[in-house]
Amino acid sequence: MAIASFSGASVLIVGGAGFVGSNLAKMLLKEDVKKLIIVDNLLSADMSNVWDDPRIEFIPRSITNSEVLERLPNDLDYAYQLATFHGNQSSIEDPLRDHMHNNYSSLVLFHRLSQIKNLKKIVYAAAACAVAAKTYGEATATDEEAPVSLFHDSPYSVSKIIGELYGNYYWKSEKLPFVKARFMNVYGPGEILGAGRWRGTVHTIWRNVTPTFVFKSLHKEALPLDDEGRTSRDFIFVEDMARGLMAAGLHGKPSEAYNLASGAETTIRKLAETINRETGNPTPVDLRKARREWDNSGNRFGSATKAENELGFKASVDIAEGIAKTVSWTKDNMDTIKRCMAQHVHFVPDAKKYLS
Ligand SMILES: NC(=O)c1ccc[n+]([C@@H]2O[C@H](COP(=O)([O-])OP(=O)(O)OC[C@H]3O[C@@H](n4cnc5c(N)ncnc54)[C@H](O)[C@@H]3O)[C@@H](O)[C@H]2O)c1
Repeated sequence: MAIASFSGASVLIVGGAGFVGSNLAKMLLKEDVKKLIIVDNLLSADMSNVWDDPRIEFIPRSITNSEVLERLPNDLDYAYQLATFHGNQSSIEDPLRDHMHNNYSSLVLFHRLSQIKNLKKIVYAAAACAVAAKTYGEATATDEEAPVSLFHDSPYSVSKIIGELYGNYYWKSEKLPFVKARFMNVYGPGEILGAGRWRGTVHTIWRNVTPTFVFKSLHKEALPLDDEGRTSRDFIFVEDMARGLMAAGLHGKPSEAYNLASGAETTIRKLAETINRETGNPTPVDLRKARREWDNSGNRFGSATKAENELGFKASVDIAEGIAKTVSWTKDNMDTIKRCMAQHVHFVPDAKKYLS
């Protein structure tokens, strides 16, 4: 299925200054959108990811603010809810802030959007980690019908599920054209270590595994592999993710969930070795026996079949190509990354050594 066009459309991205949101914004601008409204309070984002384009209206505030909600135009065509309190570890440290930015943000947005009668689609950033079966044995591809546990590892994971429930409710009661995009592990250019405000743990700097490993590998460090790097994930390149989100907006059926997945299972060890090969890091990986304390998610990857059949979306960038692009972007943006890391160095003393 060919991607139809956003040409002439008015689009809202909540969280549009963030990693995925800024990549989506860049791609939508190429699609000739008429207007792009970005609402982002810069909680985990940097202004360098807000593009300079006359079609963008940037509102640097929280979507939970009632003035911001009222100000949203009633002729919106598409909306994306990507706001979050990033990420699992921050939510464990501060469940109440997680509730505000990862959960309440969805409720107030869906409530407001349900008043916009000609809205074509609202796409919600759901998380596969909140759905996937937990196993340390052989993983099978998680599909969209997988059962959801009532017992979760983090408030973040709880919030991601509750966002789905609220959206389903507004679809049922108000006909909100609500589509769930279930993200696998996204990586790629635009994920800035340390972007935004302090969120209570060192993971304000060391966000996800890929940007952290790329940064440390470029500094010739031994990449630390918990559980000897045996756990696996489905890594999807951010440009594929942005294309998938656009396909979900144009072709997704309201109330349905679609995995946006590569469909490939990659161990953390393979990820680390791919990164070290690309950066030329000669330091061997650091194999550690222990698993991450809070994380019981084990091995997992997503089924990409439904998105391919119903949205016409298939990820096209494999891990080696995606990592090469990510390493290249990281080298080119090292000054921005270090500027963002420097904001938190007072709380993360071990980051100091990179900044001198
Ligand atoms: N990156 C991944 O691997 C992944 C995996 C699963 C799900 N997701 C989901 O995808 C979405 C985007 O993730 P990301 O990796 O780009 O994270 P990100 O932290 O880079 O982006 C989230 C954005 O939301 C903004 N934000 C936070 N609270 C807000 C509020 N109250 N009002 C307005 N903006 C607010 C942040 O400043 C940030 O720009 C999130 O909802 C996340 O839960 C991401």
